[in-house]
Amino acid sequence: MDVFEAIKGRYSVRAYKADPVEDEKLATVLEAARLAPTAANRQPIQIIVAHTAGRADEISRIYDREWFAQAPLVICVCAIAEEGWSRSDGKPYADVDAAIAMDHLILAATGVGLGTCWIAAFDPAAAREVLGLPDGVEPVAFTPLGYPADEPRDKKRRQMEDLVRLERW
Ligand SMILES: Cc1cc2nc3c(=O)[nH]c(=O)nc-3n(C[C@H](O)[C@H](O)[C@H](O)COP(=O)(O)O)c2cc1C
Repeated sequence: MDVFEAIKGRYSVRAYKADPVEDEKLATVLEAARLAPTAANRQPIQIIVAHTAGRADEISRIYDREWFAQAPLVICVCAIAEEGWSRSDGKPYADVDAAIAMDHLILAATGVGLGTCWIAAFDPAAAREVLGLPDGVEPVAFTPLGYPADEPRDKKRRQMEDLVRLERW
């Protein structure tokens, strides 16, 4: 699948089959995250891969939707702020790096036929506790990872002219 096909084909999957994710496919999506660019190449991220089997109650404490723990895997991308690059005015970029890594992972997942859904509305305290995250390792985004059990929907997006200001030169 080419990149633009993956971009067009990706959607937020909110129902998953119980089928396991093959090790090779998991390795592919993790490799995509590993190869993602980061500011000053600091790579201030950590990726946690959690199995949901037999842990639905615990995993649901992180994000309380039944489809979240329905997928065989849940992935969390964390930022380690003190390892990240900051701009001259102090703006930190570790969260941006984490988001880029998650997006690489998600597009690669689409490319190998797996479903994902960006999750930001999780409970950070529960995430820390369930995943055993130390201080300084900040969960930024989650996604379930598994085979979709729903169908893509039409994408509702702003019109190009509302989105882009094309300067003339
Ligand atoms: C940063 C970010 C956070 C999101 N958080 C959640 C979330 O907590 N729960 C959820 O169901 N969807 C979440 N989404 C999914 C969006 O609702 C979804 O991407 C958007 O409605 C567009 O739909 P699509 O992904 O199917 O194209 C999030 C998406 C992004 C990019």
